[in-house]
Amino acid sequence: MKTEQTECSKAMEQKIHDEFSTRFGGEGTLYASAGRINLIGEHTDYNGGFVFPGAIDKVIMAEIRPNDSDRVRVYSVDINETAEFGLNEEDAPKEQWARYIFGVCREVIKRGGTVKGFDAVFAGNVPLGAGLSSSAALESCFAFAMNDMFNDNKIDKFELAKIGQSTEHNYCGVNCGIMDQFASVFGKKDCLMRLDCRSLEFEYFPFKLDGYTLVLVDSRVKHELVDSPYNKRRQSCERVAAKLGIETLRDATMEDLKRIESEISEEDYKRAEYVIGEKQRVLDVCDALGRGDYETVGERMYQTHEGMSKLYEVSCEELDFLNDVARECGVTGSRIMGGGFGGCTINLVKNDLYEPFVNVVTKKFADKYGHEPKIYPVIISDGARRLS
Ligand code: GLA
Repeated sequence: MKTEQTECSKAMEQKIHDEFSTRFGGEGTLYASAGRINLIGEHTDYNGGFVFPGAIDKVIMAEIRPNDSDRVRVYSVDINETAEFGLNEEDAPKEQWARYIFGVCREVIKRGGTVKGFDAVFAGNVPLGAGLSSSAALESCFAFAMNDMFNDNKIDKFELAKIGQSTEHNYCGVNCGIMDQFASVFGKKDCLMRLDCRSLEFEYFPFKLDGYTLVLVDSRVKHELVDSPYNKRRQSCERVAAKLGIETLRDATMEDLKRIESEISEEDYKRAEYVIGEKQRVLDVCDALGRGDYETVGERMYQTHEGMSKLYEVSCEELDFLNDVARECGVTGSRIMGGGFGGCTINLVKNDLYEPFVNVVTKKFADKYGHEPKIYPVIISDGARRLS
C-alpha cells in the first residue's frame, strides 16, 4: 500500500494492517478522515449561522474490504473490541462505538445507496471527548469509504456530511448541527472554511497567521455530548425562533429578542442572546483576518468564551481557569472550542509568547487540578480520503 503520511500515522497504519491480516487475511483499502478545530462560530450551525472550521492532522483510519456477505465485522484497535452486525434497521449493535458505523451504513441505504457486508479494522489519534470531533471523523471515514467502495463515488460530499449528521441524530442521540461532519469531509490542507450553515455555501481561507500560532489546550475533562444538555440548548434556540415566527435564530436581532423578553424564560433569553452575538462575531473575525487584525480576532474569541460560559452555560471550571490563565499571560485570544462541557480551549498566541504560555498554563493547571493539560499545536490538514 502506497500512502503519504507522517511517522505517527504510519505506525497506526501498520498496526491496523497487521490486525487486518491477522483477523481477516490479506489486505483491504485504507481510508482516513480527520477531527476538526473551529476558529469561531460555536453553536451557530444548528441556528443557521456561520462557522469557521478546519480539519486537523489527527485522524481516524480504517482498512476495509467487502466480504461477499450481508454482515459487517469490525475491530476497533483502540478499544480492543469486535462488533458484528447486519445491515437492517433491527440489526443495530449494542456497542456504542459500532453504532456510528452501523448508522452510517443505514443512512447510506436510506438514501438509496448501496452497502454490502464488509470487514474492517480501525484506529485513531483524535483524542476522545476533547471537542475535536472524533465521532465525526469516524462517521466521515466510513461514509467516504462506503461511497468509494459500493457507490462509485456517486454520493456528493454534502450528502456524505449529512449522512454523518443523521447518524448522530438517529443512532447516537445527539441532535448536532452540520459543522463537524462538514469539516471532516471537506477539510483541505492549510485551509480553514467559512460555512454558511443555512445555504451551505462555503469558502476556503488559506490558513496563514502572520506571527501568531493556534494552540489547543486540552483540560482532559471528558466531554460527552450524548448525555450533556447539548440537545436542551438547541431546544431553547428553537423555542425562541418559534416565538419570533422565524425558522432559525440566524434571522433574529437583539431588538427582536428584547421585544419578546417578557414572553420567554430568562434561560432561553440568555441562550438566544449568546447565539445572536456569536453570529456577528464570526463575520467580524473574517473581516479582521482579511485585514491581518489579530487583536480583533482575539478579542472576539474572548467574547465567545464569556458568552459560552455565562450565557450559554456550556463551560466548566477547568475551561474557565484555562481561559483566565491565557488572559493573564497576554494571549491574544482564547476560548472554549466545540460543544463545550469539557475538552479544549483554542488559543491565538503571538509566536514569541508560545513557549512561555505553554509552560505557565501547564504548570498552573497541574498545580490546581493535579494533572497536566495536553497541548496540541494546530496543523490544518485534509479531511476524508482514500489512502491506498
Ligand atoms: C458539537 C456539534 C456541532 C456544533 C458544536 C458547537 O461539536 O457536533 O454541530 O454544534 O458542538 O459549535
